[in-house]
Amino acid sequence: MTDGMTVGVIGGTGMLGRSMVTAFLDSGVVPPGALWVANRSGARGDLPEAVQVTADAQALAAACEVVILSVPPALFEALRIDASGALVISVMAGVSRARIAEHTGATRVVRAMSSPAAARRLAFSPWCGEVSTDDGTRVTELLGACGKAAEVADESQIEIFTAMTGPVPGFVAQFAAAMADYAARRGVAPEVADMAVRQLFLASGEMLAQEAPTPQQHVQEMVDYAGTTAAGLLALQDAGLQGVVDRGLDAAVARTREIAG
Ligand SMILES: NC(=O)c1ccc[n+]([C@@H]2O[C@H](COP(=O)([O-])OP(=O)(O)OC[C@H]3O[C@@H](n4cnc5c(N)ncnc54)[C@H](OP(=O)(O)O)[C@@H]3O)[C@@H](O)[C@H]2O)c1
Repeated sequence: MTDGMTVGVIGGTGMLGRSMVTAFLDSGVVPPGALWVANRSGARGDLPEAVQVTADAQALAAACEVVILSVPPALFEALRIDASGALVISVMAGVSRARIAEHTGATRVVRAMSSPAAARRLAFSPWCGEVSTDDGTRVTELLGACGKAAEVADESQIEIFTAMTGPVPGFVAQFAAAMADYAARRGVAPEVADMAVRQLFLASGEMLAQEAPTPQQHVQEMVDYAGTTAAGLLALQDAGLQGVVDRGLDAAVARTREIAG
């Protein structure tokens, strides 16, 4: 559905915007000649020549049928555009659909979340917005090019994912660090422990992503098997792992709401 559509990314040279631009180009979902990028400096960086780069965000808004907003939330108020003719997709943390509509004049507004994993086409991008089926297909195609995308029921759920997309790689790193530390404290050479957790988490992530059982089913199967894994899992459950994860995510959600103001 994005065939022939002009897509613009305001903030397309930033950490997230650039990652999404990479996904659009690598997947071919937006050809370089149909892609615009705006920032304040007009600097192109390493973007291909065929991509239109401008310091004039209004020129982008006027030229593009789809406008992606990826500027820092604190700088959004300073961005003055009339995007009333465009489908606007925001990946800004904490800025509501109502505020985006009010500030840009857009009537077709989607609020989404994504992450720099988009550059590897591995992001998870939830979105919500009361838009037509055609617009929904465009959103799914663009965010799907960044990895996986899913429509969620309401805007408050975007905040849950804002708190998960950023922190989860850090949460996983924390868990891996705790395991590497366990091995190192028992005499394993730190570089071997490091290599081990990286490989083990790679394999576990791939299996979790690709194999059929849900994480809950996988845990239950292991518990039912009553082997080594079950012993470890039951001890983790007994120590209150779910409560610890809840606390970590609650803190991240609270911080998201605080940043949004
Ligand atoms: N980074 C992440 O991991 C992540 C994850 C989820 C959501 N987000 C959201 O994504 C958005 C961007 O975050 P980021 O980390 O990519 O920020 P960033 O690296 O600071 O990039 C910001 C981009 O916006 C441009 N920009 C700023 N003000 C502008 C303006 N008035 N007009 C046009 N362009 C402007 C910047 O270019 P110039 O400085 O040249 O203007 C740059 O390209 C934020 O709203 C954030 O909440 C980020």
